[in-house]
Amino acid sequence: MTILAERTESAERTRPTVADVTERAAVGDVHAWVAAVAGLTQPDEVVWCDGSERDGLVAGMVATGTLLPLDPDLRPGSYLARSDPADVARVESRTFICSCDRADAGPTNNWREPAAMRTELDGVFAGSMRGRTMYVVPFSMGPVGGPISQLGVQVTDSPYVVVSMGVMTRVSAAVRDLVEAGAAFVPAVHSVGAPLVGGADDVAWPCNDTKYIAHFPETREIWSFGSGYGGNALLGKKCFALRIASVMGRDEGWLAEHMLLIRLTSPQGRRYHVAAAFPSACGKTNLAMLRPTLPGWSVETIGDDIAWLRPGPDGSLRAINPEAGFFGVAPGTGESTNPAAIETLARDTIFTNVALTPEGDVWWEGLTDEAPAHLTDWTGAPWTPADGAAGRPAAHPNSRFTVAAAQCPTITDGWDDPEGVPLDAIVFGGRRATNVPLVAQAESWEHGVFLGATISSERTAAAEGVVGELRRDPFAMMPFCGYDMADHWAHWLRVGAALDPARRPLVFGVNWFRKDDDGRFMWPGFGENARVLAWMVAQIDRARGVRTDVGAVPSPVGLLPSPGALDVDGLDLDPATLAALFEVDPDSWLLEADLTAEFFATFGDRVPPALRTRLAHLREALEEA
Ligand code: GTP
Ligand code: SPV
Ligand code: MN
Repeated sequence: MTILAERTESAERTRPTVADVTERAAVGDVHAWVAAVAGLTQPDEVVWCDGSERDGLVAGMVATGTLLPLDPDLRPGSYLARSDPADVARVESRTFICSCDRADAGPTNNWREPAAMRTELDGVFAGSMRGRTMYVVPFSMGPVGGPISQLGVQVTDSPYVVVSMGVMTRVSAAVRDLVEAGAAFVPAVHSVGAPLVGGADDVAWPCNDTKYIAHFPETREIWSFGSGYGGNALLGKKCFALRIASVMGRDEGWLAEHMLLIRLTSPQGRRYHVAAAFPSACGKTNLAMLRPTLPGWSVETIGDDIAWLRPGPDGSLRAINPEAGFFGVAPGTGESTNPAAIETLARDTIFTNVALTPEGDVWWEGLTDEAPAHLTDWTGAPWTPADGAAGRPAAHPNSRFTVAAAQCPTITDGWDDPEGVPLDAIVFGGRRATNVPLVAQAESWEHGVFLGATISSERTAAAEGVVGELRRDPFAMMPFCGYDMADHWAHWLRVGAALDPARRPLVFGVNWFRKDDDGRFMWPGFGENARVLAWMVAQIDRARGVRTDVGAVPSPVGLLPSPGALDVDGLDLDPATLAALFEVDPDSWLLEADLTAEFFATFGDRVPPALRTRLAHLREALEEA
């Protein structure tokens, strides 16, 4: 860590504007850009980070009450942070794509004209870091220098964000050296928007009621103001690795996706790599760390939230996890559902908005079957199970853990291989109480893109909004695509067409969340999802001629497992429930097709013709059914 003499005077010198900062970034001189940001935001001092600052920042945050140390015997090296109760999740209504042409942002993004947004940002960023330290965090998404990797530099006035970025991305002196030597980087400016003026006391979680999560796809810039939470503030994650990277991928022939990444090994010792896109809080971390209930199978983790996919020289689609850590949903994570996550969290973890036990450990709904008799809830208030029964959870539903991927017991050897892994299957899924079968295979790449484009899912607590409300979430990318979603579908068709047909991944749709009439999940989920993965692998083997038996039957919505092909041995699943998990009701599906047509219409003629053809096929098949 170096403290530079770039001390800025809050006095009356000419203050650079946001547009000036953009100009400096375009030149590529990182120091000139940093100086311009400091001139605009006017911090007391500027500190360059390389990872070595972590312990000092943690000690400082313990002193100010931002981090509460957990009992070192129970949870060594771990801390609890409590956010401002109004800063608990991504704010999609304040997330902007500022492309030059409105049409490039598409109808599903909030668009702002870039110059107008820069002027608006001037108003909030001017002097926003007064009384604080501005940290400069050079980071790499993906292994430093790898062929699929990208560099970024985030400036932030939040030490919590610096420490979290150190877990979630690769922050090092090597990255700093690269950007100082002129390597291209994505400039990302973050301020919690709470200047300390006139000797005001700080609070544990500074933030601002006004928030902006703004992206400039053409200049590849990110400007985030007012929030310290998750994807709003850890700018390597959704802002860079999805919104900006999706635009880079469109322009350069690759894909940035909201996907987990795993390696599956069959009892025969054959390896398969699978990427799966589920909307926020719909099971990516759980599938990424799955402990198979089927004997002889193993699942190893490569990534749990984001994957970058790039056609390889051999015609396969190669994938890396650009992150270095997990920012995972705490509630629902327990020994019985996700034992690998529980082991990962045993030490050196930052928890945010979970509950605290009297012994100085953490707790959340689903960690144990029974709640402890007394807790301190995520807001710092006393809590008993009676409060839970009255509908007040101890942990916030979007409480999270931040932990290094390397700590995960199921992490693959070579998970950070810069060349990535070749994909054998791509899976799309959502949280659907009705209609959508447990698993269906796409008949072709085009059909697979149609499955991705038509995901709808019940809203979760990962973002503001009404939990449970059904919404469209194509490719699980609705909040994360930096350009027109229909162009994203066209890009997927293009990327697929360029792959070697023999190496092109098969595509599947899944739904772990179908409910019976009493509102109970019909499928046991979690480790039992390995049964569905095993059927996918059998289908991959059939496609490659390794197996010749028949494993699937056609249906209007795709290929379903033929009777007996899905191994349900030993499950407490009666035949009626199994049938219900795969039921495709033509009337409900025709309604769903109408909604898809309406949804497609919002994109006008940018919807690829191949997807309109698939929709017509779907309708015909349903009418015949
Ligand atoms: P983000 O980090 O927000 O992108 O979420 P994610 O997709 O990684 O979601 P995660 O795996 O953390 O799961 C969110 C919630 O879904 C947790 O409460 C899980 O317990 C629950 N869940 C995950 N897998 C299953 C499953 O197979 N069945 C059921 N019923 N619930 C599941
Ligand atoms: C999500 O909401 O999909 C997340 C959490 O993974 S956040 O990083 O806050 O976006
Ligand atoms: Mn996510």
